[in-house]
Parts: sequence; structure tokens; C-alpha cells
Amino acid sequence: MVEYKVKDMSLAEQGKLKIEWAEAHMPVLMMFRKMYRDKKPFKDLRVAAVLHVTKETAVLVKALKDAGADVWLAASNPLSTQDDVAAALVDYGINVFAWRGQSSKEYYWCIKRLAESEPDIILDDGGDFHALLHKEYIEIASRLIGGTEETTTGVIRLKALEKEGLLKYPVIAVNNAYTKYLFDNRYGTGQSTFDGILRATNILVAGKIVVVAGYGWVGRGIALRARGLGARRVIVVEVDPIKALEAVFDGFEVMPMIEAAKIGDIFITATGNKKVIRKEHFLVMKDGAILANAGHFNVEIWIPDLEEVSIEKRRIRENVEEYKLKDGRRLYLLAEGRLVNLVAAEGHPSEVMDMSFANQFMAVKYLYDNRGKLPPKVMNPPYEIDSKIAELKLKTMGIRLEVLTEEQKEYLKSWQLGT
Ligand code: NAD
Ligand code: ADE
Repeated sequence: MVEYKVKDMSLAEQGKLKIEWAEAHMPVLMMFRKMYRDKKPFKDLRVAAVLHVTKETAVLVKALKDAGADVWLAASNPLSTQDDVAAALVDYGINVFAWRGQSSKEYYWCIKRLAESEPDIILDDGGDFHALLHKEYIEIASRLIGGTEETTTGVIRLKALEKEGLLKYPVIAVNNAYTKYLFDNRYGTGQSTFDGILRATNILVAGKIVVVAGYGWVGRGIALRARGLGARRVIVVEVDPIKALEAVFDGFEVMPMIEAAKIGDIFITATGNKKVIRKEHFLVMKDGAILANAGHFNVEIWIPDLEEVSIEKRRIRENVEEYKLKDGRRLYLLAEGRLVNLVAAEGHPSEVMDMSFANQFMAVKYLYDNRGKLPPKVMNPPYEIDSKIAELKLKTMGIRLEVLTEEQKEYLKSWQLGT
């Protein structure tokens, strides 16, 4: 019997169409799905996934179910669930506990339902599920075959857990696959962050001054797309000297937030850190400045400070909150400071999630095939899987590689030949 709590089961048919669209744009994952549908390698496995409940996640959990797993799904963010997709997945036999607009209590209630299903393998995005198991369900954590982690912030939290000697099971840091972060974090977030900002505001980017906080993989993608959309100036704020230098050589201006705050029209945070934009910055911003976050948690734009400096707040459009300051200036916060690409838009396009979730699928298979043999550590995905996914992705795009000749292979292995 399928267990679930979703917003509205009458949305299922609409959700199925959305999933069909994603399936048509995720050829690598679909290849894995077909490959393991008959063999059912996961037939004795219960998999619990805390991920953004989107049409792309639907393709992943359907693949896991088709491979024999009993799948349980909850949302990794209170505002990112696509309710029609959640309903469609219940019809597909997935146990779903997710709806858009959860309170913090409801969010954890759903994740706890997954913990109590006593999974064998877990998938997480951001580390809340891993943290909950280590805080409140330690026996279940101790019995897990292993887990995976989708994003940079989750990997950082898990490495801290490992460093303290507390991690109870092996974790594959899916985020660290080349076929994940180089594409998903950079091109996926780069495009979908602007998708979210534009759906929420419908503003013109051309002629604007865009400030990007963080020049990691996500920040690089966002800065690149800001330039492509015609921003007049793209300013990067960084704390790491190497990344700051890279931003300069990539053609962007670099300065501290307190200076950028005075001139920016659109601010986008992508650091994985807290209080990146705070009181001192709000106090010097221009009237009409727009604030958006692409980092995992809603702590980068520090909302308690924004509330403190404001005398009035109102919702002016869907996903746009207007904060009025004492002197009449107005600041616009998008998506309540949560991931703007998933709250105000649909997250990354399916084509890029194809690689991220092909990695998730193969990580589950790797953990299962090596059960009992892996230490309780955070591991990068095996390179062979990573490069196989790249090879398959190229193939589905009709792109062929050059092939080394035997002579070239020998040359690359030798030290004798030089000038
Ligand atoms: P990253 O580690 O590559 O980059 C983060 C950068 O932020 C680093 O260069 C760091 O030096 C910089 N930084 C830290 N504190 C700062 C501060 N106070 N001011 C300015 N810069 C600062 O990480 P990433 O892969 O780019 O991920 C960034 C965040 O985005 C994480 O929270 C990650 O989980 C999240 N993420 C979101 C999505 C999405 O769909 N929105 C997708 C992938 C990753
Ligand atoms: N993270 C970013 N985009 C996503 C998507 N489309 N589905 C699931 N997780 C995501």
C-alpha cells in the first residue's frame, strides 16, 4: 500500500505530462532506467530520498522504482515542491510526503516519516536528512547501507560530521562528480536563477548592475549569464583571493559587499554562507534593489536584519516581497530568500539534471553492490561512473570524440622523447 501526504491528488494527470516532458529530455537516466528495469537489482531495497520534488526528481525516483526499490520521497525545501508532480508520483506507487508551502514543523514531519520507514539507502540534498538521522534516529543511521548527497552545502555538513568521527555510514558526494558540479552548479543554476528572477519580476536585465556574491561553481554560472543577458556591470563579491582573481581575469569587477551594496540593482547570493547581505548593506542600497538567493539555505540574505530596518512589508507579486525602509526606500526580496530558481521557477532544466541524477542512480547501485565493504566516510563518486556518464551524454547529443592512436598513447606514457 502506498503511503502519502500531498496537496491535491486531482493534479496527478497534469503532473504526469510534466514528467513525460522531463523524460524526453533526460536520455542518460532513461538509458539506465531501461537497462535495469528487467533485472530489478534493487528488489530488496528501500530507498528514502529527500530531494526537491520536481519533474526531474520524478524521473529519478521512477527509475529507482522500476529497478525494484521501494521508494519514499520528501521535499528538501519547504517551498520547492511541484504539487502536480508529487500527486503523479503517488499514482506511480511512490510513497510521497511533500507539498509546496510547508511550515518548518511540517517539513521535518515529512522527513521523519521517511526515517521511520527504515530505509536501506538514503538520498539527500542539503544534509537535513543526514543530520536528522544522526541526531534522532541513530540506530536507523547505524544500519544504513549508505547515503548520497546532492549539493555543496550538504557535502560540507557531512565532512564536518565525518571530521568529528560521528558519521555512521558511507556517503557518496554526488555533488563532487565532474558531470555534476561542472554542469548543474554552473550552467543549471546560472540559467535557472535568472529564470526565477525573471518569472518573479519580469524586469529587464540589460542596463542593470548585477552583484553576485560567491564565485564558486554557482556564482561563475550566474555571473556568466548576467553578462549574457546584457547587464551593464557584473560585480563579484568574494572572500577567496584565487576565486576573486579568477573573476577579475574573467572580466568582472570585484569589490567588497559594502561598496557593491551602494550601486547594485540586482543582488544574487551563491556562497553557502550566512549573513552575506546584512543590515549595514541594506542601509546603503538604492531604492528598488532586488535581492535573490541561489545558495542552499535562506540565510545568505539575512532576513531578520531586513525586517529590523523596515517599517512595512507587503507581497507585491507572487514571490516578491516589498520591504519599505524608514526613509521610504524599497527593497524587493524574492522567494523569501530561498533558492530562487526552485521557488520562483522550476529548478534546473531537465537536460542538466539528466547527468546529476544519472550520478545519483549509479551511486545507489555502487553503494548496494559494495554493501558492507565501504567505510563510514564521505567519498567522491568513482571516476569510471563519472566518465561513463559524460560519454553517454555526448552520445545522446550526437557528439563524437577524437581517439588516441597507439603511437600517441605510447608518447603520452614515455619520458625519453623531448626537443
Ligand atoms: P562553492 O564552494 O564552489 O562556492 C562558494 C563560494 O562562495 C566560494 O568561492 C567562497 O569563497 C565564497 N564565499 C563564502 N563566503 C562568502 C562571503 N561571505 N562573501 C562572498 N563570497 C563568499 O559552492 P557552489 O557549488 O558554488 O555552491 C554555492 C551554494 O549554492 C551552496 O549552498 C550550494 O549547496 C548551492 N547550490 C544551489 C543550487 C541551486 O539549484 N540553487 C545548485 C547547486 C548548488
Ligand atoms: N536542483 C536544482 N534544480 C533541480 C531540479 N530541477 N530538480 C531537482 N533538484 C534540483
